[in-house]
Amino acid sequence: MAEKKHSERIKEEDAINALSSESPEISTNDELESKPIPTMIDDLDIQDIPGIGPTTAKKLRDAGILTVMDLAVASAEELSVEINSSKESAAAFIIAAQQLLRDSNLLDKEFVTADIALEKRKSMLRCTTGSKALDRLLLGGVETQAVTEFYGEFGSGKSQICHTLCVMASQPVSEGGYGSGSIYIDTEGTFRPERIDQIAVSRGLDPASVLKSIAVCKVYNSSHLELIVKDLGKYINDFKARLVIIDSIISLHRAEFAGRGTLADRQQRLNGMLHKIIRLAEIYNITVVITNQVQSSPDTFFGDPTKAAGGNVLGHASTYRIYLRKSGENRTAKMIDSPYHPYSDTKFTVTERGVDDLEEETSSKRGK
Ligand code: GTP
Ligand code: MG
Repeated sequence: MAEKKHSERIKEEDAINALSSESPEISTNDELESKPIPTMIDDLDIQDIPGIGPTTAKKLRDAGILTVMDLAVASAEELSVEINSSKESAAAFIIAAQQLLRDSNLLDKEFVTADIALEKRKSMLRCTTGSKALDRLLLGGVETQAVTEFYGEFGSGKSQICHTLCVMASQPVSEGGYGSGSIYIDTEGTFRPERIDQIAVSRGLDPASVLKSIAVCKVYNSSHLELIVKDLGKYINDFKARLVIIDSIISLHRAEFAGRGTLADRQQRLNGMLHKIIRLAEIYNITVVITNQVQSSPDTFFGDPTKAAGGNVLGHASTYRIYLRKSGENRTAKMIDSPYHPYSDTKFTVTERGVDDLEEETSSKRGK
């Protein structure tokens, strides 16, 4: 227990040091601009995997698994049903695919020393949210290889963050973006291309190229969402996307699996989808941003009685959880769960520029 507290304190101190230093050792996107994106190169053939011959390759193709990447992120349970094999052999194929990626340096070794892990963390990319205050809360922006969850009540700014992130991701690495495309999976019908246009124009960017960089998919039911997530690897490659947004992850499942009796089924399906998303984020080195709704927790006697929907399944899936609250014109973002961020909060606002800093923040920066 004491050990845990100590390590948490060190993490917090590191994070605070990074926050207060003049040139924090975070967001080193610039250095990475020249580095190739290994996961975007799909030179490997599924038949390069030992033990997979033409017959199995055909079965896999029929099941929608076209690349080594697709196989590496598959779940053994689902794959065994799709290719009509035992769970053990499906798992063996997946492990073999991951091994081939490791041998080709496209995936990390299973065990690495902590110094190498730290080096890798430094090379992780970050995309600005469009607000300096929010970026500081996230120690530089949303990260690749992680799932970042924004949850809050209606109107708290979740979709606005998603819209702004897509605009920022299209910007070059030197401007805090990814210089890449993004995928916006819209389950609530709230994606507005006009809003993207407006945010781009207000920020002095070329709206036509920003709009072209965003692939939108409107999803109508939970099965459709699960299908899109299943094939996401292919879409990530097709659209050269470094950012995937799912706004929201839970609304369809929540609406369709309403009764108590269906809760276990709902959680199981959500779990399957979320695991796939985590694997995609890590293996493709992309940022996944999901939004979540809130539910009231009547057993809370002190403090805010709202909590994120989706229970433990969602709680464990997100690397970072940020709680958004509306207070008048302003919004408060609070880091609720993170392996290394300090538990701080910050204020931001929503303007024609999308997510933006408060007036004081902007003017104090100007005054410096
Ligand atoms: P739900 O999806 O309903 O759960 O809410 P949400 O958290 O996604 O809310 P969203 O991000 O859509 O925020 C909506 C709020 O953003 C509105 O109530 C407005 O306050 C603000 N907003 C949206 N568009 C604009 C705009 O063009 N200009 C300004 N100034 N504010 C806007
Ligand atoms: Mg929304």
